[in-house]
Amino acid sequence: MLNKKPALLNRSLRLTEAELIKYSTQSIQLKKPQRLTSITNSVINQDILSAVKYLPEKFVDLLFIDPPYNITKKFNLVAFKAMNNDDYETWLDSWLSKLIFLLKANSSIYICGDWKSSSAIFKVGSKYFKVRNRITWEREKGRGAKANWKNCSEDIWFFTNSDTYTFNVEKVKLRRKVLAPYRDKKRNPKDWDQNSSGNFRDTFPSNVWNDISVPFWSMAENTEHPTQKPEKLLAKLILASTNEGDLVFDPFLGSGTTAVVAKKLGRRYVGVELDNYYCSLALKRLELVEKDKKIQGYEDDVFWERNTLIEQVKSQKSTGKAESRQRRKVKKS
Ligand SMILES: C[S@@+](CC[C@H](N)C(=O)[O-])C[C@H]1O[C@@H](n2cnc3c(N)ncnc32)[C@H](O)[C@@H]1O
Repeated sequence: MLNKKPALLNRSLRLTEAELIKYSTQSIQLKKPQRLTSITNSVINQDILSAVKYLPEKFVDLLFIDPPYNITKKFNLVAFKAMNNDDYETWLDSWLSKLIFLLKANSSIYICGDWKSSSAIFKVGSKYFKVRNRITWEREKGRGAKANWKNCSEDIWFFTNSDTYTFNVEKVKLRRKVLAPYRDKKRNPKDWDQNSSGNFRDTFPSNVWNDISVPFWSMAENTEHPTQKPEKLLAKLILASTNEGDLVFDPFLGSGTTAVVAKKLGRRYVGVELDNYYCSLALKRLELVEKDKKIQGYEDDVFWERNTLIEQVKSQKSTGKAESRQRRKVKKS
């Protein structure tokens, strides 16, 4: 698919001819009803409408959906064509209604969209689920428009199947630089921490995210998928809405981000993707997780603001030093 020679610092993940052959046989196709054990941690290369009928009931803890938005876009061999709002709503409904039997009573559901498709997602999602929130995140990438505002935001609708659901707020705190470092009467930091990497406050996560970077060519997680979601974004949703060992299902897996992050965080996954090439990219990424579980922007069990790499490295070093001091202490005692 990629014939051009990559630039020197381009770290985008690619597939060689040999890898393409290797991974293209590793995704599966469903032709009869499946037990959970036979699909756990798999990539299913199929149209979601043909795969869903073979999936077991009530096995999904978290349903993450990143469907084609209502714009004309080419996904390798198949193009999605923009349609009017009503037709997009009907299209969303045609598959969302068929996914409901997969959910547990306490499942959470996230559906991604842009400003144009957001209202349709709200309408269709609220027909079946309880609406909890709408997250808006800033995408830094975006072309300026001469007669309009540059489009730099996306939405993720948060639904749940009932009023009982997992939400681990402590796991998704955002570490922010403290701009006004107030101190109490004893000169101790007030609600912030001072350490070798700087002055920070771990804050509760809000529904506006401006700490996300869209994967680009110098990032190791980048692939040639045209609408790949950032691993950091998935990490927030998975950590908030699942516990270790839970299962995350993605019916439009693309380059595999959901499965990759689920694996990095000790969750199980199942993903469905129509395109065989994207399935192979996902499988390669999943194999690489064995060697590297890092998620860019997530360090020390907290999420970091953009452009804080130096502080993250310092923090990593001081945690490393503290750990080796602790190990030496244990050895001595
Ligand atoms: C917006 S992209 C998902 C990107 C993904 N979140 C990632 O991080 O790479 C939507 C994906 O859905 C796939 N797709 C479109 N129609 C599909 C269908 N009917 N069944 C399964 N996959 C489909 C496309 O090939 C595309 O890769």
